[in-house]
Amino acid sequence: MKNNIEIKNKIKRFNNEIFVSSDKSISIRSVLLASQAIGISKIYNLLESEDVLNALKSIKKLGVEYKKKNKFYEIKGYGLNSFDPKKNSTIYAGNSGTFARLILGLLVNCKKEVKLIGDKSLSNRDFSRVIKPLSLFGANFKSNKNLLPVKISGSNFLRPIEYYERLGSAQCKSAVMFAALKTPGITKIKAKKSRDHTEIFLDELNVPIKIKKGKFYDNIEIKGLTNFKGFTYNVPGDISSSSFFLVLTLLSNNSQLKIKNVNINKSRTGIIEILNKMNAKILLKNKKKYKGELVSDIIVKSQKNLRSINCPKTFNSSAIDEFLIIFLVAAKAKGVSSFKDLGELNNKESPRLNIAVKFLRKIGIKVVRQKNDIKIFGQPNINLSGKFTIKNFKKDHRVFMMSCIAALTFGGEWKIHDKNSVNTSFPEFLKIIKYLGANIN
Ligand code: S3P
Repeated sequence: MKNNIEIKNKIKRFNNEIFVSSDKSISIRSVLLASQAIGISKIYNLLESEDVLNALKSIKKLGVEYKKKNKFYEIKGYGLNSFDPKKNSTIYAGNSGTFARLILGLLVNCKKEVKLIGDKSLSNRDFSRVIKPLSLFGANFKSNKNLLPVKISGSNFLRPIEYYERLGSAQCKSAVMFAALKTPGITKIKAKKSRDHTEIFLDELNVPIKIKKGKFYDNIEIKGLTNFKGFTYNVPGDISSSSFFLVLTLLSNNSQLKIKNVNINKSRTGIIEILNKMNAKILLKNKKKYKGELVSDIIVKSQKNLRSINCPKTFNSSAIDEFLIIFLVAAKAKGVSSFKDLGELNNKESPRLNIAVKFLRKIGIKVVRQKNDIKIFGQPNINLSGKFTIKNFKKDHRVFMMSCIAALTFGGEWKIHDKNSVNTSFPEFLKIIKYLGANIN
């Protein structure tokens, strides 16, 4: 089947309400924590994307049963010590760095060796960031220079660790927290700020966890070996998936959009704060708390007078997955925007900082790059007329979606490859774009 799309027209004005796909980070955490609970968990609105489906298939290989019911997934767990894979089991993480890193945390006490593999993109990503701390607990690893395939053998003699997480990676922090669940005694983590869904979830499950929030770092203590019961969870919409529609609306003419029931955890909403500083007027309405997480509707309108930003580094973590799409706004804003210290972007599904710089230059935007800092020279009247082909981006879902938004708002004739990439995080992306009126072949 054809795996590329063509876009030849800008999107016309729209005024709609939408739901986006469910949150990927929370979906993966809910599946993994349900696999560790005692009893049945029911997860409503689980994101049915490849990353999450690979997580489900993997826990099944590790001996955990799940069923898809009409409105929810039912997962039957037997507690913290119950993974029981067959001899020489292999689990496939697909494209998902989050699932791959988090599952290693849960395998630190597994009785048999398990081999973890992934797709081409994941096979190029570094696992030393989790192998190092998880080895300190006592788990044993074999790997190909810290790349996949990684083999892990658990230990019966785990010891708690004191870990200083300096990357600001929620995946590393969460892998360590998951290992702490399996380990006697108290594990202490000092972690550079990153999304805190795991902390919130564990607290909701009454796991003994102490969290002290600081300005740049959080201190977390977890007392291990406390089993918890099965739970019910209703996964809200994903702010990272919403971000493409926030920017589509912002850069279109006379349009308005309400995105309903989105997770707006402060550790994820850097995009909203950044865009509002650039003169967007994004509103959060109907805010409520759900199991420790904040959820709301998001309202956005087109904005002709966008201004550049000198983006504070403090947003680097809370907007980590949104910089590609934020760069498009900078491309249309008045003035020169600057972003600093974005090296982590090159450790994602594709080297996103390199790809973004190439992309912006290709569409005629001046970019000055110094190592991991970039300056983007905005063109408020940008109106493209050339032909653009976007390919060789390692099937990175977010590069594909960002390219579609550029095509629908900047003009020109576009051919964008690898449309199936959206299945990793946001299977409904193209359906929603078409619902808003986009003409896509
Ligand atoms: C995620 C953490 C982030 C993010 C990824 C999802 C998570 O990665 O980029 O898409 O769910 O924990 P890092 O922790 O490596 O920054």
